[in-house]
Amino acid sequence: MPVVPATDEAIAQAAGALAEGAIVAFPTETVYGLGADARNGTAVAKIFAAKERPRFNPLIVHVPDFATAETLVAFNDDARTLAAAFWPGPLTLVAPKRKDCGIADLVTAGLDSIAVRVPGHPVAQALLKTAKCPIAAPSANRSGRISPTEAAHVAAELGETPAMILDGGACARGLESTVVSLAGAEPVLLRLGAVPRHEIEAALSRPVARAEDDAPIASPGQLSRHYAPQTPLRLNAADVQPGEVLLAFGPDPLPCDSKAINLSRAGDLGEAAAKLFASLRELDEAGSFGIAVMPIPDEGLGEAINDRLRRAAKAR
Ligand code: TXA
Ligand code: MG
Repeated sequence: MPVVPATDEAIAQAAGALAEGAIVAFPTETVYGLGADARNGTAVAKIFAAKERPRFNPLIVHVPDFATAETLVAFNDDARTLAAAFWPGPLTLVAPKRKDCGIADLVTAGLDSIAVRVPGHPVAQALLKTAKCPIAAPSANRSGRISPTEAAHVAAELGETPAMILDGGACARGLESTVVSLAGAEPVLLRLGAVPRHEIEAALSRPVARAEDDAPIASPGQLSRHYAPQTPLRLNAADVQPGEVLLAFGPDPLPCDSKAINLSRAGDLGEAAAKLFASLRELDEAGSFGIAVMPIPDEGLGEAINDRLRRAAKAR
């Protein structure tokens, strides 16, 4: 039974599990999160597998304090104002990602920005300080279901999938964090949440625009276009044609005289998901006429990988 009371000992154990690349559920003041070391793409892939997400939505990165957040993203004055007013707390800030932040590409779905949050819940704080790593965590529910606000909800949603479920009681907020983007010139409210809009506007001393539901940054279709390779993708390739490079999968890669990257020689979809964005970028930089992509099984994480590949192929 992975539900354990969040004692110091259990928190230390959960931090150890994160260091080993496992996923653990933990309470925040908003909802329970399903966390992985945000620098470890293979660990982050396990979150998507556990949630059965049909595609790779970008995840929120949790950090213990403002100073740590600043090592990951570049904040403008508005971001600093909001952080000073609401952190630690239920506010997530989207800001331009720093080049050497070390966050796995899978966390940001290939975007140039990162959503960061400093949670106020004592268990989340203790876990972040003990684990000493940024924790990528969506709500700990299966895709399309209601966010869990008690440890028992997490167990009902995810069973034995997380290595541990730290029980810190019911979440005080019960509503996800408010998400504000400061990646552009003006702040944009991307998701209404636990911090009401009027408090954000009061802190900034001006009205804040709300993103349309189908606004570019909020829409997964647009997200994929944001990072689509310049090089055309040819999916389900059965050969590699002259002038093409190869994105391979599995133990029998197609014969190829040019650059080739295998997403997973072992045929492991978790490994493939973790390597996907970096591999596409590297093949794109090869300056070829096209990228031949071997078929990837449309099961488990493969469904999300194929969704991402189809969008990237279509987006040009
Ligand atoms: O309260 C919360 O925010 C909870 C707890 C666990 O922290 N987490 C949560 O995560 O609700 P999730 O994955 O369910 O929602 C993350 C939201 C999504 O709307 C996503 O599109 C947005 O944050 N997001 C993440 N990264 C983004 C980025 N780089 N740009 C724009 N939006 C981003
Ligand atoms: Mg959610």
